[in-house]
Amino acid sequence: MAQRETWATRTGFILAAVGSAVGLGNIWRFPFITADGGGAAFLVVYLLFVAFIGFPAILVEFVVGRRTERNPVGALLELGGNAWKYVGGVFIVTGFVILSYYSVVAGWFIRYFFEGFRGSYADRLATHGGEAGAMFGEVSTGMDAFVLHTVFMAVTIGVVALGIRRGIEVATKAMVPAIVVLLAGLAVWAFTLSGSGAGYEYYLSPDFSTITSNWTNLLPAAAGQAFFTLSLGMGVMITYASYLGEDRNLTKDAATIIGFDTGIAFLTGLVVFPIFFAAGITDPGEGGPGAIFVSMTQAFADLSGGRLLGLLFFGTVAIAALSSAISLLEVVTAYVIDEKGVERWKAALGMGGVIYLLGIPVTYDLIFLDLLDLFADGILLVFGALVLMLLVGWVAPQFAVEELSKGIGDLGSLGQAWIWAVRVPIIAVLAVSLYLGIVDYV
Ligand code: PHE
Ligand code: NA
Repeated sequence: MAQRETWATRTGFILAAVGSAVGLGNIWRFPFITADGGGAAFLVVYLLFVAFIGFPAILVEFVVGRRTERNPVGALLELGGNAWKYVGGVFIVTGFVILSYYSVVAGWFIRYFFEGFRGSYADRLATHGGEAGAMFGEVSTGMDAFVLHTVFMAVTIGVVALGIRRGIEVATKAMVPAIVVLLAGLAVWAFTLSGSGAGYEYYLSPDFSTITSNWTNLLPAAAGQAFFTLSLGMGVMITYASYLGEDRNLTKDAATIIGFDTGIAFLTGLVVFPIFFAAGITDPGEGGPGAIFVSMTQAFADLSGGRLLGLLFFGTVAIAALSSAISLLEVVTAYVIDEKGVERWKAALGMGGVIYLLGIPVTYDLIFLDLLDLFADGILLVFGALVLMLLVGWVAPQFAVEELSKGIGDLGSLGQAWIWAVRVPIIAVLAVSLYLGIVDYV
């Protein structure tokens, strides 16, 4: 067998993993799913989920990848045997489904980026009757959305086909600080708007009775969002860790990735909700998948220097989306290369082509976005994560603690605590989330 690639630089792995995690999940999906869940009540459940399930789960993917040095399907085969291989096939399906609509949404960011080239955001809004919601309604489907979906998938396929991950590592290095600075600046500006106070109340002050009365909706929604935003439950982190040397401290890397991802999502909420309430929108849930576009075009139309800020914002998010899309296509492509012996460019083009076709209906009607998104996040990702937990917790636990301790040293009782957390409480919560997610869907 040929020598397997490893990360070129010490920071290559962490950059790629952060690049995968930070994306549309934080900036596009987080605000409208939070609004859907009623604001602060959702935020609390989501944060608990990230800390107590997302963190152990990312470690599970890391140890599986680093130990087996395989793509996710091959990894499951090696650790669990033949039956598990088929379960691993679900990861590939998940990648297909997510990337198909992810690309369409990324196309919207490109579209809003170009709007800034054509004129100020205030002028662009004026051509749509001054209504940010109407503007989103007009540009989110149709010919332009189709063309931009085509462009975005072509670029994603190109990068994966050529295997030019290095360029993406460099882009990620610039993109993450840029997003943080932009969001922080916008959050400060939003704070100064009159009427924004109600936004903080909505986002940050949970009503605990809502959580207890509404937990059957909040739990599957939080599970789906947590796995989606952290790129968990479909083997991305397995794949990335499979190129990893044994000297890395995986817990530290996990904390870094989760810290950036959660911080960026949280900041996005500090921008979107105050802006909504300042604009007199008291039910942010109305915005749906358009929430971020509606609030941001409004902001960039009102702000002095809004045109430049808008270009920067929409452009950076499009790059963030690209690094995530690459990770999605990379999993699918690595599987075909490793298991079927197909050449890289053929694998990327073939898989990417089918994914592209699957996304086309979304550019016609957003009903398809809803169908695909809820199916992938609420069901497929949770299922994938559950399967991995069962495998590592019950079928092949011996290796996990040993693998985790590499690069750290003796874990003591913490290693056992991790395995037992996976074995019983985490598996139980995931099983309930999955059940509720399926009931919600059908
Ligand atoms: N984590 C990415 C985001 O937040 C999306 C993603 C999900 C990427 C699953 C890879 C795998 O945008
Ligand atoms: Na994310």
